[in-house]
Amino acid sequence: MKIGFIGLGIMGSRMAANLQKHGHSLVVFNRSREKANPLLAQGAKWADSPAALAEQVDVIFTMLAHPDAVEEAATGKEGFLSHLSPGRMWVDCSTVNPSFSKKMADVARSRDLRFLGAPVTGSKGPAAEGKLIFWVGGAASDLEACRPLLECMGSRIVHCGGPGTGTALKMVMNQLLGTFLAAFSEGLILGESLGISREVLLEALFNGPAAAPFVAVKRQRIETANYAQADFALRWLQKDLHLAAVSAYETGVAMPLTNAAKELFRLAIRDGHGDEDISAIYGYLARNRDAQSTSGSVAQ
Ligand SMILES: NC(=O)c1ccc[n+]([C@@H]2O[C@H](COP(=O)([O-])OP(=O)(O)OC[C@H]3O[C@@H](n4cnc5c(N)ncnc54)[C@H](OP(=O)(O)O)[C@@H]3O)[C@@H](O)[C@H]2O)c1
Repeated sequence: MKIGFIGLGIMGSRMAANLQKHGHSLVVFNRSREKANPLLAQGAKWADSPAALAEQVDVIFTMLAHPDAVEEAATGKEGFLSHLSPGRMWVDCSTVNPSFSKKMADVARSRDLRFLGAPVTGSKGPAAEGKLIFWVGGAASDLEACRPLLECMGSRIVHCGGPGTGTALKMVMNQLLGTFLAAFSEGLILGESLGISREVLLEALFNGPAAAPFVAVKRQRIETANYAQADFALRWLQKDLHLAAVSAYETGVAMPLTNAAKELFRLAIRDGHGDEDISAIYGYLARNRDAQSTSGSVAQ
């Protein structure tokens, strides 16, 4: 089976490499060609466009930044959808909003193509180790056909239901991740401003009941103020909070906390932290506090 892979960023490059390690032939495309070089060196074939890729493969995986990038790759001028033969499958692993994923499922179905929305949990490390969790929305029979490929990249595969349901679950998770990380960072800043020693504070908060496991993973970055070479870029978590807000608007749900967190992440992006790791939200707040304390505060 020949596999097409579009989107070779932090996640896609590692996922594609795992398919390759399991002996699958790959045809790849990425907006910036140089990111394909390690895969090309291992025998993958380059396609000049998503359309050219589609002519050569049985199944396409996309792992792109946001809905606009996915839509362009699928239905844009050189999009792949109209070049895939009927019956072939498209698996979108990008984190997108459920209504968008359902729209893509409908477009695919109208062209007699099979579609799975299969976003993932797990960052750079699990992607490299083939230990991602896939949250899959789509027909059970399509998932079974695709399962051996997902097993090359992940250690857990959850069928959430029909189109859009995998994306919905992923959306809820990242909404929690973003709001929690913002709240946890504010807690650290408050503790520091109250004079608790940094050592005591970090030890207490990171090892206490208030720290979710994903935050504990960020301890070293926060302790050393090292946010470079992101595992997960801060701008994409802000994108997920935005897409969660879009989903809330569509369903009539109110999410005041999520929207506040979303705007906090936007401020951090505007301050130049978009490409840093998501943990840079703490760094942004800390710098903000330091700037305030040099200009005076109510407490002083
Ligand atoms: N990193 C994580 O921990 C993590 C975990 C789970 C899910 N995700 C999700 O996985 C997806 C990919 O994330 P990532 O961490 O791999 O991000 P990334 O390293 O920034 O890669 C993004 C990919 O999208 C492409 N892209 C971005 N904007 C584009 C545009 N306007 N047109 C065409 N292509 C575009 C990039 O192409 P270039 O190479 O040319 O920039 C790259 O291939 C996102 O939806 C993210 O939310 C990430």
